[in-house]
Amino acid sequence: MTPLNNPPAGEKIMKEIRFKKWKKPLIKDGKPTKWNWLVRGVESLELGKDTDIGAFCYINATAGVVIENNVQIGGGVKIYSISTIDNKKGKIVLKKNCKIGANSVIMPGVTIGENSIVGALSFVTKDIPDNVLAYGVPAKVIKKIDNV
Ligand SMILES: CC(C)(COP(=O)(O)OP(=O)(O)OC[C@H]1O[C@@H](n2cnc3c(N)ncnc32)[C@H](O)[C@@H]1OP(=O)(O)O)[C@@H](O)C(=O)NCCC(=O)NCCS
Repeated sequence: MTPLNNPPAGEKIMKEIRFKKWKKPLIKDGKPTKWNWLVRGVESLELGKDTDIGAFCYINATAGVVIENNVQIGGGVKIYSISTIDNKKGKIVLKKNCKIGANSVIMPGVTIGENSIVGALSFVTKDIPDNVLAYGVPAKVIKKIDNV
């Protein structure tokens, strides 16, 4: 079994090739990018390099969103720095090398730690520390990730 967050050498090489030509994406506020993800409040988004954002993601960056280097975000993830349904607001930080599974929701004020993995379909309402696997509704830490 492939250890979480510690891919074998071949996969590491594939990733290096994949990001060799990485360029900062062109993002127009409220318009889908060429990869079909969309940002509102783009002036408050800080996007690191070698980041990978899947199709149909929605990022409301109005109150600040920081996506550090090497972050991977699965398709359909929703990142809300402002949530008008429950009047929540706060900067979101996705620290370097973390991964967010498909269709998860990240709520205002949350920080996801370095190297951590959030499982698919999670509802993240609280900070997730570095080097852990977390998932669920609401997301909870399941275990530490070794070999990161
Ligand atoms: C969280 C994750 C990384 C865990 O992988 P894993 O360690 O191989 O876990 P397993 O598949 O062995 O699952 C272990 C158990 O947790 C459960 N589980 C796994 N992921 C879950 C999730 N996201 N939410 C709820 N339960 C989950 C499984 O049902 C299983 O339950 P069981 O013990 O009752 O059988 C993986 O399930 C996941 O969500 N990956 C994200 C995939 C994705 O989004 N890809 C698209 C973007 S590239």
